[in-house]
Amino acid sequence: MASYFISGGEKLKGTVKIQGSKNAALPIIAASLLHRGTTVIRECPWILDVRYMLEVLKSIGCSIFIDGSTVWIDASDIDASKLAKECIGKMRSSILLLGAMVGRCAQFSLDYPGGCTIGARPVDIHLKALSRMGVHIQEQEGQIYCDTKVLSGEEIQLPYPSVGATENIMMAAVKAEGVTWIHNAAREPEIVDLAEFLKRMGVRIIGAGTERIGILGKCPLCDTEYQVMGDRIVAGTYLLAAAGAGGEIEVCGVKEEHIHCLLQICEKMGCEIRLTDRGICLRSSRRLFSIEDIHTQPFPGFPTDLQSQLMAVLTKAVGESRIFEHVFENRFGTAEELNKMGADIQIKNNRAVIRGVAKLKAGHVYAKDLRGGAALVIAGLMAEGDSIVENSIFIERGYQDICKDLTGLGAKIKVIEGK
Ligand code: EPZ
Repeated sequence: MASYFISGGEKLKGTVKIQGSKNAALPIIAASLLHRGTTVIRECPWILDVRYMLEVLKSIGCSIFIDGSTVWIDASDIDASKLAKECIGKMRSSILLLGAMVGRCAQFSLDYPGGCTIGARPVDIHLKALSRMGVHIQEQEGQIYCDTKVLSGEEIQLPYPSVGATENIMMAAVKAEGVTWIHNAAREPEIVDLAEFLKRMGVRIIGAGTERIGILGKCPLCDTEYQVMGDRIVAGTYLLAAAGAGGEIEVCGVKEEHIHCLLQICEKMGCEIRLTDRGICLRSSRRLFSIEDIHTQPFPGFPTDLQSQLMAVLTKAVGESRIFEHVFENRFGTAEELNKMGADIQIKNNRAVIRGVAKLKAGHVYAKDLRGGAALVIAGLMAEGDSIVENSIFIERGYQDICKDLTGLGAKIKVIEGK
């Protein structure tokens, strides 16, 4: 497996254009199955999870054409029985095929998407909602069997504002008889992006971005062209890298309101934030302040997907910081690797206590998940000396080219191929 070789201690400087959003592109690619025609997706990030999702669509009969960051998908004729099993297990987001396919394929089965290091990742909320809409679901030997006679619009009350479940219900509702209302819906920007895509396709949908979304089913759909939003988590990762390593950078192509909570935390740490007509500037010119209590929450709260990266930055802040992880049950895995680099992090249940140290020492560390891996890259930039971050494949699941982006900002980072 390849790894990253990082020579730490360099301040970051410059401007970086942020890639399209992984967590917007994946549901939008799945939603292209709703229409028996062509969908063109622009600014699609070329990352592993997108490649897997496109392989699945190809396996069921979609024609796919890729030109740079533009993807053409023709979903006129699909055959769910040919679903590529080998791709399904490779990524969690395969569960998003459920909502897209129940309206087009009367019977099909999907491998139960595995959990991952950050949690068990159950899909009970998805399945309960789709059952309520008329999908007959059986779970047997790691498979989810769906048999749908009639899909009907329903009032769905979510027990938790699950992002994926909200997206699946939105997609199933497109093909359902009547109106579907989702209560306690997820409010993430990626939900709004999916809704904007569906509206462009011809769907009547209101309330995306609020906790109550209404979708009118059976609208005529049309060929659609859509540009995916900028990736707020990639932008937040690079801003945190500059906060930790020092310097001044500008991230372009992402909206301030999508990472407002992070920017507030960066200012509390002692960074200067400035909005420009192209994006967001962060300047970090001093040792950072610790932050007393940070709680990860659904949007608009502090995103769990930036928790590990913030933890890395706080390892060198003055004083003691505490992070509470409320979204996933096992998302502190990277603390152990950071402690190998001289950090002082104590984990107790869903709480991480980080006591700031003056220096991090370069280390040979192991990425265990996507965002934890990005956190180790940040730590490598902050440490003195040469670090190696193994298992770069985890990071490539969500970052199109973290080496190129950070090198463009003055970092000394390169890929070294595995033995
Ligand atoms: C999406 O995952 C994102 N992935 C995640 O990003 C992100 O961390 C998460 O939303 C929260 O914002 C994509 O969009 C592809 P959830 P999702 O359903 O939809 C529990 C990254 O790093 N839950 O909102 O799976 C679940 O266990 C990834 O880019 C149930 O209990 O998140 C978790 O504790 C990681 N039953 C919580 O809800 C269910 O049926 C949040 O999950 C569904 C979820």
